[in-house]
Amino acid sequence: MTSFRGPILDMPEMDSPHREMVARAEELAVAARSRNAKKAANLLDELLETTAFHFAQEDEWMDRTSYPDRVAHRTAHDLFLQDLHASALEIRAAGITPRVLEWACGRLPQWIRFHMEKNDRPLARHIERATIRRTDVALEPRS
Ligand SMILES: [Fe+2]
Repeated sequence: MTSFRGPILDMPEMDSPHREMVARAEELAVAARSRNAKKAANLLDELLETTAFHFAQEDEWMDRTSYPDRVAHRTAHDLFLQDLHASALEIRAAGITPRVLEWACGRLPQWIRFHMEKNDRPLARHIERATIRRTDVALEPRS
C-alpha cells in the first residue's frame, strides 16, 4: 500500500477516501512522468470517480450539520472537479503535455493536501462537535 502523505484528520470516514485520492494522484504523477498517457488517463478517471463520490459525501455532511462555511467549501470542490475534467480532456486530446506534467506533479498534489489541511480539517472538527452535541445528527442517512 502506498504510504499516506496527506494530513490525518482522525475521522475514518474522511481519512479513508482521502488516502485513496492521494494514492491515485501519486500514481498519476508517476504515469505522467513516464509519459504514459493511457495509464494517466485511466488513473485520472479513477481519481475523478473517487473524488466526486467523496465530495458528494462531504456536501451531505455539511448540509446535515449546517456547516457555516459550506458555500466556500463546495465552491472549492467544484473548481477542483473542473480542473480534473479539463486535464482528463487534455490528456485524451494531446497526451502528456508540459502543462499536464506540471499539473500532475505540482498543482494537483498541492491542492489535495492544502484542501485537506485548510478546508477538511475544520469540517472534520465541526462534524465531530455536531455529532457529539446533537444525537439526531448522524453521518449515515437513516434507512
Ligand atoms: Fe473537502
